[in-house]
Amino acid sequence: MRALLAGGAGYVGAHTAVALLEAGHEVVLLDDLSNASAAVAERIGRITGKDVSLVSGDATDEGAIAAVFDEHGPFDAIVHLAAFKAVGESTQKPLDYYDNNLNTTFALLRVGMARGIRSFLFSSTGTVYSDPADLPFTEESKTSVDLSNAYSKSKRMNEVVLEDVARVNPDLDVTVLRYFNPVGAHPSGLIGEDPKGVPNNLMPYVQRVAIGELDRVGVFGTDYDTPDGTGLRDYIHVVDLAEGHVAALEKGEPGYTVYNLGTGEPVSVLQLIASFEKAIGRELPKDLLERRAGDVTATYCDPSKAERELGWKAKLTIDDASRDAWKWQSQNPQGFAGV
Ligand code: WQD
Repeated sequence: MRALLAGGAGYVGAHTAVALLEAGHEVVLLDDLSNASAAVAERIGRITGKDVSLVSGDATDEGAIAAVFDEHGPFDAIVHLAAFKAVGESTQKPLDYYDNNLNTTFALLRVGMARGIRSFLFSSTGTVYSDPADLPFTEESKTSVDLSNAYSKSKRMNEVVLEDVARVNPDLDVTVLRYFNPVGAHPSGLIGEDPKGVPNNLMPYVQRVAIGELDRVGVFGTDYDTPDGTGLRDYIHVVDLAEGHVAALEKGEPGYTVYNLGTGEPVSVLQLIASFEKAIGRELPKDLLERRAGDVTATYCDPSKAERELGWKAKLTIDDASRDAWKWQSQNPQGFAGV
């Protein structure tokens, strides 16, 4: 199968490209490089021994997308990973988030359907689930567009659009993958998470403290109603997440389908930090701080639908993720900037 990965030079995109190539598929990456490095293409080539084309371009621009189809197509599928994804930033720049995260979908859908793609895979998020009473979240759990930030709202809005588009295009496979918390890196240490500036997310922040770029880990809240008082999340190794994309694309069933991609195992902030400390063999300096505004106590999924229908199940643990994240970060202290 030949797939166009929009946002394909990003953290999830690069790992998904590796997984697709290693499963015998072909990929072309389209990325505006606003939060990714062109160096990733060479790294993907080193890991897989295969050539991968990276086109620098704007996935909101139908002309640019059409040019990729002219030059590198035809494609059987589009994997849409091209979105702004910083939760905190999205509360400050809602228009940028709605503009980019919706117009990329509109443009990719219009060109892709005009060019006869069979599958459209969409990167969504477990943060669309709205009622903690439904934990662990299944794909039938309540969702809402009335969420705490523009990033999550834009993802739920995209799902509403995709469900309606699928309804009037019954031969099209529209698959929505609701990610929980992606962490870790490819075991080669050649690709990994490389957020620009100071990371908002826990695992990359811990990685930067471990290499000495940042001083101390801040634990946001120790008074949650959880076993150790810190927030619970469903941390899924990015390699497992990438395999979930392969399984979804290979199933390729027409119609609108949603899958949770998570481990189903809630892990606390302190447990993640302890796992990372085990991986590096030393303790990290940490401060126990107040809660971060907008954080929920717990979010984790029931991943059994993906196992039942896709034959996919997360295999890697938080310790695997810590080991692999450390290998990536210690081998690439400046991320891709150092390449
Ligand atoms: C995790 C936990 C914080 C930073 C995620 C990501 C992303 C998205 C889903 C798909 C929370 C605590 C954090 C720190 C801390 N993926 N924390 N100190 O908030 O669950 O958001 O939503 O869409 O995976 O955006 O992830 O890593 O920011 O926080 O104590 O320096 O770590 O309070 O409990 P979050 P996160």
